[in-house]
Amino acid sequence: MTATIVSCIGPWLIAPEWAWVGTAFLVAYLLRHLYLLTRLALLIRRHHRLIPPFPRGLWGEIYRSIAQYQQRGRKGRKRQIRFTRRFREAANAVPDGLVILDKQHRVDWANPAAATLMNVHWPEDDGRPLFEILTHPDLKGFVETGESLRPMDFAPEHNRALMLSLRITPFGERKRQRLVVARDITKIYHLNMIRRDFVANASHELRTPLTVIAGFLESLIDASATPPNHRRPLTLMHNQAERMRLIIEDLLTLSRLEMYEHPEVQESVDVPDELHLILQEAHALSKGRHAFSIDIDEDLLLLGSQPELRSAFSNLIFNAVKHTPDGTEIRIRWSTWSDGPELRVEDNGPGIEPEHLPRLTERFYRIDKARSRESGGTGLGLAIAKHIMNRHDARLLIASEIDRGSTFSCVFPHARAIPRDEAEHTTAPCAAPEPTTENRSAVGPDGACLHRNRAGRSAAC
Ligand SMILES: Nc1ncnc2c1ncn2[C@@H]1O[C@H](COP(=O)(O)OP(=O)(O)O)[C@@H](O)[C@H]1O
Ligand SMILES: [Mg+2]
Repeated sequence: MTATIVSCIGPWLIAPEWAWVGTAFLVAYLLRHLYLLTRLALLIRRHHRLIPPFPRGLWGEIYRSIAQYQQRGRKGRKRQIRFTRRFREAANAVPDGLVILDKQHRVDWANPAAATLMNVHWPEDDGRPLFEILTHPDLKGFVETGESLRPMDFAPEHNRALMLSLRITPFGERKRQRLVVARDITKIYHLNMIRRDFVANASHELRTPLTVIAGFLESLIDASATPPNHRRPLTLMHNQAERMRLIIEDLLTLSRLEMYEHPEVQESVDVPDELHLILQEAHALSKGRHAFSIDIDEDLLLLGSQPELRSAFSNLIFNAVKHTPDGTEIRIRWSTWSDGPELRVEDNGPGIEPEHLPRLTERFYRIDKARSRESGGTGLGLAIAKHIMNRHDARLLIASEIDRGSTFSCVFPHARAIPRDEAEHTTAPCAAPEPTTENRSAVGPDGACLHRNRAGRSAAC
């Protein structure tokens, strides 16, 4: 560049008659720049690769840098293509149906398994709303709320022999897109049905002979002809028969609860009234060995099934009596908290070791089997309570600390709370819709009727 400037200006300064030589140099210099610039612009516009040899000097540097940049971009694109291909191959190999929905919940992409499981064919169904292809009354609400924790189980219309478990995961900008995963649970569903029916039938079959045995044992105990030394073994036998009867009753209750996702009949349940009745029984059970403190919102009623709620609440309260030592304080609270109406049963007993907590709601799980049996426990109470909570869209929470005590809480959604003065206007209880294969385990809004009272409040049931 310096040489060019000297060549251009030198003749002007030294010998003006040679000035045209300087001008010629300057023109040639500018033309070269214009040529290289235009060439570069054309190459870039046409997406051509810049390949050596590159011009000398500053332009050479620019050409080389752009060539390196292009090479890096090409490598990145290749990597991306390879990754996308691998992802597609993996997604296509997944046995579960995968469907990506756009912000308007229309099909954006689907894997081959989605065709058999959900009847969604891609790319043929590209841009179609999912609810048009997969028809179910609860599906729209399920996809829109994007509830990712609970699956929705149902038999799709295109293949009634199939049982699907649908899960939704919101993703993307403001979580408006949806990933729908459909799993074939036909086998598990049928095995579950067989297990449930077997337990129900076996319990039912055992009930009658057991009643006969218990009846005869009772008669033998009371009979004057029974030798006195036979009375004790007969009483023990009678107690065991009674225990078996309780287990069978609880197993039958569980089978009944498993039949449908929601209670068949729901009404406004006078929870304060129920709690007072349960507390009377709890006092009788405790025989003054426990101190009770009660804090009940007398105006808070709940939409649900009265016998089911009574069974769940009484188990939690009786547990606090049966599984804690003498002198334990038991606190019962019923009121609305930030999460919704809640029953809290707290005790300051010895508490439960953390490893037991997640297993307490399993059937027959007892920390101290002998103590539970002694107190007439079946080990099914919390399993029943958990089922009942699920059927009321509620949660059963268990917290415990060694030497500080345990808290068992039933947390209901706000929508189930009914103030006492409004309950008086609520119409008669209504039955849930006839269960079909699909709604037997479908979650989300029950699709049940709405009661509207004079205050304009609606209550789903
Ligand atoms: N308040 C409590 N304090 C300590 N342990 C408890 C309490 N409630 C329940 N448990 C434990 O949980 C187990 C399961 O309870 P549950 O299912 O109601 O069966 P059970 O028929 O034995 O009462 C009980 O056997 C007991 O070991
Ligand atoms: Mg119990």
